[in-house]
Amino acid sequence: MAIKITRPNGTEDILPKNISKWYSVENAARNVAESFGFKEIRIPTFENTDLFLRSVGETTDVVQKEMYTVMAKETKFTLRPEGTAGTIRALLQNGMLNEALPQKVFYILSCFRHERPQAGRLREFHQFGLEMVGSKSARADAEVICLAKTLLDTLGLKNIELNINSIGCPTCRKKYHEALRAFFADRKEELCDTCKSRLEKNPMRILDCKSPVCQEIAKNAPVITDYLCEECSTHFDDLKKYLTSLGIAYSINPKIVRGLDYYTKTVFEFVTTEIGAQGTVCGGGRYDGLVEELGGKPTPSLGFAMGIERILLLMEKQGATFLPEKELDLYIAPMDESAVTKAMQLAKEAREAGYTVEYDLMERGLKAQMKYADKKGAAFTMVLGENELNSGTAKLKNMQTGEQTEISIEDKFFEMFENVMLNSMFSGVLEEK
Ligand code: HAM
Repeated sequence: MAIKITRPNGTEDILPKNISKWYSVENAARNVAESFGFKEIRIPTFENTDLFLRSVGETTDVVQKEMYTVMAKETKFTLRPEGTAGTIRALLQNGMLNEALPQKVFYILSCFRHERPQAGRLREFHQFGLEMVGSKSARADAEVICLAKTLLDTLGLKNIELNINSIGCPTCRKKYHEALRAFFADRKEELCDTCKSRLEKNPMRILDCKSPVCQEIAKNAPVITDYLCEECSTHFDDLKKYLTSLGIAYSINPKIVRGLDYYTKTVFEFVTTEIGAQGTVCGGGRYDGLVEELGGKPTPSLGFAMGIERILLLMEKQGATFLPEKELDLYIAPMDESAVTKAMQLAKEAREAGYTVEYDLMERGLKAQMKYADKKGAAFTMVLGENELNSGTAKLKNMQTGEQTEISIEDKFFEMFENVMLNSMFSGVLEEK
């Protein structure tokens, strides 16, 4: 017997029974992003590996441990571990940074990271994210955070805390790196091997290490906010002022450094304690050096991404409302071959008007067809046999009330069908009241 092949560890099948939950998040995300003037972008699933080395950074966990890379005909490609690098590459390659700024794009895409799978942490996961390119103003930071908050509110989510920090620019970072090197120097031997090498190249990465020993050592490390230059400090103050005026509550958390190297100045995370250890539902910040690093002119930019699986976990936990599943409006049951073409025509007519219609594709008898219609939750059924074809009328049966209405299957079928549908919906509403 052939061995069954199962899905790779850390991936999930998104089944039809759950798809309306995904639509709930994706539709809300699209609507909110568009209401802020963002347009959708779709980028390739894989990119040249160098793109991620230069943007995400060679000393990050993502690059050092988590990328899925293949060698294909002498070129190294990597499945995108995140959306920012590919998006900026696409904006540059398509000349979009020569257009009116800020350039504002959003995306809904899958990402790939070889992490240890657990609840809320997958090897293939999905992000709703966006990038705003061209503004150095703290207004832009406030706008982007406000957009994330609006979406979380629209989804009905509660108990999510916004944590913000500033990790400064290369100027303030220099002094801070020295302070960190001095702090970790005494305990270098206790750090994990990766962090030992980070100490020289990029000591801030130690603060983001997942090893419990490194985390413990890093607990009392100096904080970046004590080393900010005047410009970064003013930018951070302006952001706080704007958030307050927007009524968006926040906490300053000087420990947030984020797991990707491109960030400068503002970084932020929306965090919940309700879905276990992986509680960051959204992370983002400013990356003023990235466009230049990828070959463009110096262009200040920022953005965020939300993990859709984590958002769904939280929505389920909090009993949030999802879009209803699409229902079967009408099932047409042809009793024999002679009625099949009629069933096909009527189904076509009703589908064109937006209804969901099925008819028998299994060549089943009437009883089995009705069982199927029942399982599928059909709102109405209609049997077509010799009598119906001869008389040109058929009975539309309301499956909930059992009520039957005779309608024409020749001319004006659709109008009569729609009348019955609307009447039943209307009486349903009245009954609910
Ligand atoms: P990130 O913090 O690496 O940032 O990921 C953003 C979000 O994706 C996280 O807050 C989390 O909700 C979700 N996420 C990350 N890894 C996993 C995983 N293994 N399983 C499930 N969900 C996960 C970025 O990716 C940046 N590109 C965000 C950004 C955009 N910054 C500026 N613009």
